[in-house]
Amino acid sequence: MDRVATVDTVRGLREAVASWRAAGKRVALVPTMGALHEGHLSLVDRARELADRVVVSIFVNPTQFAPNEDFSKYPRTLDEDCAKLAGRADLAYTPLLEEMYPAGFATTVSLAGPAAVGLEDAFRPTHFAGVATVVAKLLLQALPDVAVFGEKDYQQLKVVARMARDLDLTAEIVGAPTVREADGLALSSRNRYLSQEERALAPTLYRTLQDCAARLRAGEDAATVMAAGEAALATAGFAVDYLALRDAETLAPVSGLAAPARLLVAARLGVTRLIDNIAV
Ligand code: PAF
Repeated sequence: MDRVATVDTVRGLREAVASWRAAGKRVALVPTMGALHEGHLSLVDRARELADRVVVSIFVNPTQFAPNEDFSKYPRTLDEDCAKLAGRADLAYTPLLEEMYPAGFATTVSLAGPAAVGLEDAFRPTHFAGVATVVAKLLLQALPDVAVFGEKDYQQLKVVARMARDLDLTAEIVGAPTVREADGLALSSRNRYLSQEERALAPTLYRTLQDCAARLRAGEDAATVMAAGEAALATAGFAVDYLALRDAETLAPVSGLAAPARLLVAARLGVTRLIDNIAV
């Protein structure tokens, strides 16, 4: 089976990137936690359009999971991931825990702005500090020209872009569109947790976003539309964490479509928490 080349140390990563740079190549990084699906591969393909060499990092980052979350059972499929990346990426960076967080590790990125707007942060209060810290490390370890993140995790994309700007990290942060199943469900490594019955219900999330967006574009009152959307999701069997209309850049609450806006949702089906978003 063909496999992408791998390195598991910062040193190995830096040597590879330095040799490409010495040859005048542009380098892209796609940070992932593995369990790669077509959504991740579309980020890799986008990175390939933006650079001559593509590094995919695969690291299940413990600091972005709360103690009650699924860190221990998060899917780990390194062999399959490396096979999927063969011929698509140039290098997989697969650091062990000790490489990323050596003994005595004591530093965390502290965030406000889009990380503190009452969306994911309200339900996962330590999540973005973990994400931002590991992404800052990955960007400093790889020093890519560009890094590609999925719009599926829209708040994460905005948090990372803000952090990169604020900390003068040199990589350009690029978002890439969400990849969906034929029935509209956004691809996610966590979809595998859905029972058959839940999987059949799951596309309601995207359909509800689309219905709400259509009503907003038709000029209906945002509060009414949001309330109807939440009710539709509850009726379908979701426990809704939030369904919100936000400014597409700052993620601040908005009550209309005067500026580019984004509809974001998080809802649980049984034990599985799904998130999605669309432009309005
Ligand atoms: O989106 C993810 O998979 C993770 O949050 C990321 C960006 C790889 C950081 O661990």
